[in-house]
Amino acid sequence: MRICFLNGQFVPEDEAKISVFDRGFLFSDSVYEVSAVFNGRLVDNRGHLNRLQNSLSEIGIASPYSNEEIIELQKQLIEKNQLENGSVYLQVTRGEESARDFLPNPSTPPTVVMIPQHKDLTVNPLAERGARVITVPDIRWAKRHIKATGLLGAVLAKQAATAAGCDDAWFVEDGYVTEGSANNAFFIKGNTLVTKAPSSQILNGITRQSVIRIVEDYDLVLEERDFTVAEAQAADEAFASSATMLIVPVVAIDDSIIGDGKPGAMAQKIRQTYIDMALANLLP
Ligand code: PDD
Repeated sequence: MRICFLNGQFVPEDEAKISVFDRGFLFSDSVYEVSAVFNGRLVDNRGHLNRLQNSLSEIGIASPYSNEEIIELQKQLIEKNQLENGSVYLQVTRGEESARDFLPNPSTPPTVVMIPQHKDLTVNPLAERGARVITVPDIRWAKRHIKATGLLGAVLAKQAATAAGCDDAWFVEDGYVTEGSANNAFFIKGNTLVTKAPSSQILNGITRQSVIRIVEDYDLVLEERDFTVAEAQAADEAFASSATMLIVPVVAIDDSIIGDGKPGAMAQKIRQTYIDMALANLLP
């Protein structure tokens, strides 16, 4: 039985209950973060917590805890669950109110939840064989830089990918790839690494930012810019990044095979470097 954190207390998962009047449930009035855990240590957690504070401020929820306080609670959660490898999910909602009212009461205290997930993220069959992705229209809202829990667009995209016999979906807007269903999208052509520049159209992934720092030491030129599906399909390599998939090579986009259809050497190297750095505690 897992131990979860709910509003100041650590409780067994079957006692971690939220009210039907919680605004996170009724309106998706909430934000979240997912931090990987390698050998009991949080990975890239500073970036995740800074982004959480930014998401909270963007939607006008007063931050319930400082980053230091959250780190302390995350560490307790890891300890209580003997979580060696996996992730910590953290969600903050605008809280429970007495009725369903779109207009929030500013004095409502937020609901804070943390859930541990046991799973060795360094072991992933998709990383071995590469992901096949479909492209789907980006039907999501206009403030994707906020890590909000209104994730129906991602759910539908994942369902469509599965129905098509693929692993994931990349969103396309105005003819350009924005990002993956729950990850950032990259491609490599020659010695150029291309990924969309951060804006309100995408979530600026913390893993994405680490990838960009990692390749500073590589013989790659980074271009943060819009790119079309056709450009990515004509690439030598493609890959996606997130806290839970880390870096996963992409071997097909719709009907096009990328490169020779096998995971790209550079994507695999970036993945291994990310894992090595995380294990060496170089990504705090
Ligand atoms: N999702 N883009 C979207 C839409 C995402 O949902 C995510 C992460 C990312 C990658 O961000 P990061 O590198 O900070 O994890 C990009 C998480 C993993 C999730 O929803 O489970």
